Amino acid sequence: MKDRIDQLVAEVESLKAGSLEEVEQLRLKYLSKKGLVSALFDDFKSVASEKKREVGQLLNELKNTANQKIDELKSGFDTEETTLSENQDPSRPAFFQPGSRHPLSIVRNQINEIFSRIGFTVADGPEIEDDWHNFSALNFTADHPARDMQDTFFIATNPDILLRTHTSSIQIRTMETTKPPIRMVFPGRVFRNEAISARAHCIFHQVEGLYIDKHVSFADLKQTLMYFAKEMFGENTKIRLRPSYFPFTEPSGEMDVSCNICGGVGCNICKYTGWVEILGCGMVDPNALENCGIDSQIYTGFAFGMGIERITMLKYQIKDLRLFFENDVRFLRQFSGAF
Ligand code: DAH
Repeated sequence: MKDRIDQLVAEVESLKAGSLEEVEQLRLKYLSKKGLVSALFDDFKSVASEKKREVGQLLNELKNTANQKIDELKSGFDTEETTLSENQDPSRPAFFQPGSRHPLSIVRNQINEIFSRIGFTVADGPEIEDDWHNFSALNFTADHPARDMQDTFFIATNPDILLRTHTSSIQIRTMETTKPPIRMVFPGRVFRNEAISARAHCIFHQVEGLYIDKHVSFADLKQTLMYFAKEMFGENTKIRLRPSYFPFTEPSGEMDVSCNICGGVGCNICKYTGWVEILGCGMVDPNALENCGIDSQIYTGFAFGMGIERITMLKYQIKDLRLFFENDVRFLRQFSGAF
């Protein structure tokens, strides 16, 4: 009996298998109820009682060795494939939920892109400004109502430092440091002390445009804005310029586009006029040029400023400006895929 056990131990230790099926075959051969090891346990009953203890121990060792060997052989084939459960598919692409760009970023990028196609470059400026760049250099008189505490957020108690109320401040910074020709757009966040409603917010976004060179005329301004309107709202868009007033432009205008929602017939978006105002513009006031060291006898230029929220609302027919700031994923997800 002992010889038989030794022989089986040696046999088991040298077992090899080429596949999981072969391992299973070996398990059945040695360890199943009718297997070779079990057969020895049957024979064990007839072992003389004084030898039972010794033989029993050897038998148990054989059984353990066989179990270990089978486990060891099995683990050699323990690949991912064999352990995957039915609903796991390793060939499936990794799951991730792509984010979406914010609608204001989409439209800002679009505006930048439209102007860059006609030679404008993009730059920005600081959100915390001083009085000079936000007001004085732009020809706002000392008592101009736009400086009022009601509109402007000042930093602490210093009336010279404020949050910019418009991106026109970047015009000044650029003209101070850049020799014409200048052909640039400046997107950015602006701040005004206004009550939050469906149509107004204390933080919003603008894009400013500036073109300074010799012989720049109002016709250039008009043509540039018409090109922009058609690119932004579609080939059939019409524009209309109305006289207006801004301290830093002379003459100044406001531009309307034909309502892209009703096609100019009249609806609640355009307040039944067929037109929606989208920007302010004009020829840069000679005072503003001189304030920045640009000779107004040699150079002329135009500027314009538009609200990105306004344009985005028109483009996507969004009726409440607050949606842009609430970060509701149900709103934001609608813009996935756009850049
Ligand atoms: N800064 C003006 C505003 O916030 C918009 C504006 C009007 C900008 C005329 C301009 C301009 O550059 O020429 O209301």
